[in-house]
Amino acid sequence: MTTNSVLYELLYISSIAPAAGISVVPQIAKHARERNAKLDVTGLLIFDGARFCQHLEGSESVVRALYARIEADPRHTQVNALQQGASLSRKFPRFSMGYADLAELDSLQFMVTQSSKTARDAFNDLLPTVDMEP
Ligand SMILES: Cc1cc2nc3c(=O)[nH]c(=O)nc-3n(C[C@H](O)[C@H](O)[C@H](O)COP(=O)(O)O)c2cc1C
Repeated sequence: MTTNSVLYELLYISSIAPAAGISVVPQIAKHARERNAKLDVTGLLIFDGARFCQHLEGSESVVRALYARIEADPRHTQVNALQQGASLSRKFPRFSMGYADLAELDSLQFMVTQSSKTARDAFNDLLPTVDMEP
């Protein structure tokens, strides 16, 4: 197995750009689904009305290149990787990009200051409470 085919995961948090407006969110999710299916990337995008939290998983080189594009996207700011590294198995094998809109505004705020392990644990804890759209 070459380095490039290692399964890699990345979790980040960001804030929606004030100029973007929440109407961009469904477009982002739709585009992500279509593109990720071609890239063999899976994951989950959570939005709480102010912040995004996204888990990406796929081959390391693809995930890193995708994250670099996402990081440069002007529709969000304060893009911050919380945790990344090799992974043994996919957490969202059925979702090219699952999407969940949290009902409670700012419910992702507490993730901003977490260490990488606590952030990953907090994300895992959120999963049973989110209503994922495939
Ligand atoms: C919060 C957020 C999440 C995104 N997630 C993805 C994603 O999972 N996959 C993707 O291809 N683009 C995603 N994008 C869009 C990228 O930033 C970028 O616009 C896109 O990859 C460019 O795609 P293109 O090369 O097909 O034009 C996301 C953007 C934002 C703001």
